[in-house]
Amino acid sequence: MDKKEQDQLKKEAATKAAMMVEPNSVLGVGTGSTVAFFIDALGERKEKEGFSLKHIVTTSNRSKKQLESLGFKVDELSDIDQADLTVDGADRVDDDLNGIKGGGGALTLEKNVAINSKKIIWIVDESKLVHRLGDFPLPVEVLPISCEQNFRKFEQEGLKPQWRMDENGKRYVTHYGNYIIDLAVDPLPVIHGLADYLDHTVGVVEHGLFLDMCDEVIIAHSDGTIEDKT
Ligand code: 5RP
Repeated sequence: MDKKEQDQLKKEAATKAAMMVEPNSVLGVGTGSTVAFFIDALGERKEKEGFSLKHIVTTSNRSKKQLESLGFKVDELSDIDQADLTVDGADRVDDDLNGIKGGGGALTLEKNVAINSKKIIWIVDESKLVHRLGDFPLPVEVLPISCEQNFRKFEQEGLKPQWRMDENGKRYVTHYGNYIIDLAVDPLPVIHGLADYLDHTVGVVEHGLFLDMCDEVIIAHSDGTIEDKT
């Protein structure tokens, strides 16, 4: 699939999700190129229907800027109790609706917004679907103070760590001033065990395994169909 076709599919999934947002609800908005189409579609609803929301929280400055440019007011997560719905993209989604997220580096805020949402919808094109999670490096956000030890430990565990780098060849720095180590082991070992191991590793701030969280995935297929998987 070329980029143009993939972008078209992302747009279709995103547009469908935008039509599912209830007016005057509290909405969580994720990060990434698919979400950028979702925000555009929300903007169109605002323009055409005078559609408005009670609160919007988002997971990155990129999404925040785009929402604000369309006239939406964006609140902080701490300003709300919970979102009625969060719509986000994903890097990989397995048969049980578990996912890898964080390709855009926003995993910590994405997971915090997600777990504080009554409902989570992911919007993807069909290239993101896998039977078993893998086929994409798993992002792990780590504190700078112990990141070298974390890296060596992941190496010893056979998890094939790689530093996430930025466009200037320096270590990528997250919104919270941390680094990202991408684990390139493929396929991933038993995912619940791996998540548990990462959850209990000192120095790990968050990781990109989003397990047992997603309620619904909207998948745009290249045959023109849009699947709603729950
Ligand atoms: C950012 C994410 C994104 O949702 C994920 O990377 C998908 O991005 P895209 O829609 O650009 O393919 O998790 O941290």
